[in-house]
Amino acid sequence: MKRSYIRAGEFFDKECGITAIRVHSECVIDICLNSSSNTVLEEDVFIIAGFLHDIVRKQSSDKHHILAIDYLKKFLKEYPVYEKFFDEIRDCIIHHRRFENPQTMYAKIFQNAILLVPYTKKWREFEKRRMMK
Ligand SMILES: [Fe+2]
Repeated sequence: MKRSYIRAGEFFDKECGITAIRVHSECVIDICLNSSSNTVLEEDVFIIAGFLHDIVRKQSSDKHHILAIDYLKKFLKEYPVYEKFFDEIRDCIIHHRRFENPQTMYAKIFQNAILLVPYTKKWREFEKRRMMK
């Protein structure tokens, strides 16, 4: 597992910790990494954006994409090694909702990945388990 995955995943657990959002985020990341394999795109961008884009989803549904940028800055303060990806990660987060206009290839892939989540086996299995409770 990539170091960024562990770091951003732990950051998510500390700042949010909601299982449904974590599973959703993991699905987004899976799809992004699958669609960008064999490209020169950086996996770290998708991984960090994946764990951060909905980190405040519970507190605010209409502003969560903007508020998440504060968490991105906080994460980058802890791990400055990813600062070089700030613009790309920010684009993914700020334009992740379906009516937004992504600027970079990263954010285009990211926005589409979110639309695909409900069709993933992982998400379907999570829903099934949740219904049985
Ligand atoms: Fe969202």
